Amino acid sequence: MCGIVGYTGRKQAAPILLDSLSRLEYRGYDSAGLAVRNGTALAEVVKATGKLHHLADKTDQGRALAGCCGIGHTRWATHGDPSLVNAHPHVSGNCSGSGSGAVESDVVGVHNGIIENYTELKEKLLRRGYTFYSETDTEVAVKLVDYYYKKYKIGPVDAITRTMVRIRGSYALALMFKDFPDEIFAARKDSPLIIGTDEEESFLASDVPAILKYTRQVYYIDNHQVARVSPGKVVFYDLNGDEVPMPLTEITWDAEAAEKGGYEHFMLKEIHEEPAAVRDTLNSMVKDGKIDLSQTGLTEDVIRSIEQIDIAACGSAWHVGMAAQYVIEDLAEIPVRVELASEFRYRKLPLSRNTLVIVISQSGETADSLAALRVAKERGAVTLAIVNVIGSTIAREADHVLYTLAGPEIAVATTKAYSAQLIAADVLAVHLAAVRGTVSPEREAGLLEELAAIPDKISRILEEKDRLQWFSSKMANTHDIFFIGRGLDYAISLEGSLKMKEISYIHSEAYAAGELKHGTISLIENNTLVIGVLTQKELYEKTVSNMMECKSRGAFLAGITTNGNFSVEDSVNFTVYIPKTDEHFMASLAIVPLQLLAYYTSVNRGLDVDKPRNLAKSVTVE
Ligand code: M6R
Repeated sequence: MCGIVGYTGRKQAAPILLDSLSRLEYRGYDSAGLAVRNGTALAEVVKATGKLHHLADKTDQGRALAGCCGIGHTRWATHGDPSLVNAHPHVSGNCSGSGSGAVESDVVGVHNGIIENYTELKEKLLRRGYTFYSETDTEVAVKLVDYYYKKYKIGPVDAITRTMVRIRGSYALALMFKDFPDEIFAARKDSPLIIGTDEEESFLASDVPAILKYTRQVYYIDNHQVARVSPGKVVFYDLNGDEVPMPLTEITWDAEAAEKGGYEHFMLKEIHEEPAAVRDTLNSMVKDGKIDLSQTGLTEDVIRSIEQIDIAACGSAWHVGMAAQYVIEDLAEIPVRVELASEFRYRKLPLSRNTLVIVISQSGETADSLAALRVAKERGAVTLAIVNVIGSTIAREADHVLYTLAGPEIAVATTKAYSAQLIAADVLAVHLAAVRGTVSPEREAGLLEELAAIPDKISRILEEKDRLQWFSSKMANTHDIFFIGRGLDYAISLEGSLKMKEISYIHSEAYAAGELKHGTISLIENNTLVIGVLTQKELYEKTVSNMMECKSRGAFLAGITTNGNFSVEDSVNFTVYIPKTDEHFMASLAIVPLQLLAYYTSVNRGLDVDKPRNLAKSVTVE
């Protein structure tokens, strides 16, 4: 999704903006641009299509753009193709061609989100004599601000609030006005935006890693607010134009956590950070051998009153929900329904005060997950968010929040955040069970002991990564992969398959092993790779039988199973053994070889591991 950055202070803005944009590359983009003000001179706008280094080359790494106040953008095309003319920043003035150079314009802006009624607004502006050079909704927003600014001769804040009440959709906007050379004006509804400050400078960004190197003092601008950002100072306004106080938050993440730290890719680094992410998350929830979820405000009374749990999430976070349902149902004996957030938001599910809706999201900004949360609240359910990014919208809007402590995750393909979510969901399941009396105190203690040992077991799996690297080199040219399993192993297969396809571009599917012969088995041909996940004792033989059915039709088989428990070597071509743990928690271990396999396959195919095509880290549009 689009990334926004801004800087105003004493230093040259362009190099800082380029650096911050480079830290948002993981969000996904297809063009980029900068606008920089040098005192009262006109804003200089430069844009480039493709990767950020084209923009850096065009501006001599930012040195060619003088000025201490500026905004920058990486665009993930929604309205209009990924061309130079559609790239941001957009300007209120008439301009031809790409809209680059010193632009005679009262307002210059960048935007993340979608303005749904832009056609209607564009027609209004056309009737008022405005012309348009791009196909974007952003140009419409910038020109609408300009229109109110001039028509009512009001200040930037009022012009922006008037615009906000007219536009529908989602937006994070950063705007510069010709008459206010050192200031940036920002507005937000449903798209992420943070504002960082230091003594003499201020920063804007779509996400924390973009500015972590410069400051840890951050404001989270609320929905329907405008911020006036000057060097070292930020003032917030509501839609009436009245000042509103906003709290400053201290970010505790390490700046190094958002660097590659010697690894070739963020993804590999983040896989290696899984033991720490899991341990930190566990330690935040289990103190002195006892589960302590007081940070969430989820009381024992609420837990006892739950009759139904609905989990809503997207992508890998949904896979965490799929895994969690087996654990919660089995341990706490509460019925669990897992829904894709994009479906949940439009379903008419009966919810009540006795339904707990759990929304899982790394970023805390995923548009569909946020919408699902809002629907759940409207319908009267109790909501709990499992979120990684502190202060994100989902975290702020949920009734209760459980933070995972994975630190910043940069690679588009989630790994350590998934593992942290998984462990958080497992501890939650144990807690629900203990409070409702479906597990005894002794069993609870035993389960917690198993959970505490997981980080070291993940480290042991990582020590054996060379074998997976070798295997991935053998299978890098495969066209189709099927990941199969039953029960929790099916949930693990879903994540293994997504990991593989999103970064290797190899077609892969996850199937509940017993379902294959209802249609999909017709796709099995000579050498189709079938990876069986075999961690559940009761289901092991059944899945192996399904794998053998594939083998009879030419499939090449790989199996993931536990040390010493089962022996599959006679049946399959390649086996990965993982350490044993309580079967409820096997996902935390079985996923690691699958993540490594996907990683090495992507590397072997020479692909952009951290920034796969067409994908965005944080999907903030519907
Ligand atoms: O930030 P979220 O956890 O809400 O993101 C949800 C999905 O977009 C995300 O898990 C996505 O599926 C990842 N690319 C998977 O690796």
